[in-house]
Amino acid sequence: MITRILTDVALMSAIGGILALIMVIAQRWLSNYGEVSININGKRELKVTGGNTLLSTLSDQQIFIPSACGGRGSCGACKCKVESGGGPLLPTERPLLTKEEMASNVRLACQVKVKSDIHIHIPESIFNIRRFNSVVEEIIDYTYDIKGITFKLIEGQSIDFKAGQYVQLESQPYEKIKDKVIRAYSISSKPELKDRIQLIIRQVPDGICTTWVHKHVKVGDKVNFTGPYGDFYLRDTEADILFVAGGSGKAPIKSILEHLKEVGTERRMTYFFGARTRKDLYLSEEMQAFEKVFTQFEYVPVLSHPETEDNWTGKTGFVMPYFKDAIRDPKNTEAYLCGSPGMISAVTKSLKEYGIYEDKIYYDSFG
Ligand SMILES: Cc1cc2nc3c(=O)[nH]c(=O)nc-3n(C[C@H](O)[C@H](O)[C@H](O)COP(=O)(O)OP(=O)(O)OC[C@H]3O[C@@H](n4cnc5c(N)ncnc54)[C@H](O)[C@@H]3O)c2cc1C
Ligand code: FES
Repeated sequence: MITRILTDVALMSAIGGILALIMVIAQRWLSNYGEVSININGKRELKVTGGNTLLSTLSDQQIFIPSACGGRGSCGACKCKVESGGGPLLPTERPLLTKEEMASNVRLACQVKVKSDIHIHIPESIFNIRRFNSVVEEIIDYTYDIKGITFKLIEGQSIDFKAGQYVQLESQPYEKIKDKVIRAYSISSKPELKDRIQLIIRQVPDGICTTWVHKHVKVGDKVNFTGPYGDFYLRDTEADILFVAGGSGKAPIKSILEHLKEVGTERRMTYFFGARTRKDLYLSEEMQAFEKVFTQFEYVPVLSHPETEDNWTGKTGFVMPYFKDAIRDPKNTEAYLCGSPGMISAVTKSLKEYGIYEDKIYYDSFG
């Protein structure tokens, strides 16, 4: 009886092993697509090895499509037109695409696999995005959970960007995190500085990249990033400006203000910065100092939950009610918002109620 059971177990194990082997071989064979071509904008033709996502295949060719979520299919930044060869639309793409986008062959580059010859269309500006190597030059603790980190470019590299744009940082493996991840961070330094950039990074509990930055990165470490990305930058008009930021959302606004200091402006600007308590405020003196630089600028910090020991005599609660006094002519006002998705949607709704045109509300959502 026991011999029979043992024989059956051995037989089942052998069958299981053979099936697993067949699956591995089939997988290898099926995903071996050989050399395929990617035609870009009808102008360039790349010969690549098939089998990987469009996002990483292009990245291997030094063509960097924005991918703020690092290819997890949650940000939608990697949208591009796939004219042919992209295969059927995947369920992972649908939640981030509108009906119009689906109808006009817009796809998520991080989900589409390159399996056969493929024709794509991407903005020409993407060819300006480059990969940079840097050394960590300075780390400043702005608050208990926000650091400012300066990256000095190496090998004589220099970066051209518009104030407000972002880069994508590549983290390194640490502890249980075995792979690098890619995350988006707005540049907080001015574009006039071309040999270094500063980022302002808030620690997200259990966040892979921010834990690496806050707990593992040291001055002197080598760090890579790509950029510049994004269309969150100051429009060259005479309109009044409302800046609204929370937490590390201060980063791109700092870059814009430092840039305006360089080039000069007469525009009327009000900057609302929302924080929970006094210990969440940072760079306050630097922001207040802009009131002396510009003829028409006011910095307005607003605390949502001031503590008794904060002795806070400034504005409290939500930032939205204070917009009333700052908006002179809603039809001639642009708004620049940066912070959490919740803050962006609440502030956008409020600004529209105040009469600001939706297409004059620019934002980067840090979600
Ligand atoms: C355009 C843009 C600009 C940005 N600029 C800045 C900036 O200047 N400064 C800044 O601090 N941030 C910025 N961000 C946010 C930044 O890109 C990261 O999203 C953020 O730092 C968190 O990254 P992380 O790797 O530490 O966290 P992640 O590892 O991505 O995790 C984020 C959260 O999700 C949770 N999580 C992770 N994976 C899962 C899962 N599978 N299921 C459920 N929960 C999960 C984690 O526990 C954590 O709470 C920006 C984002 C965008 C899109
Ligand atoms: S990279 Fe974020 S959805 Fe594709």
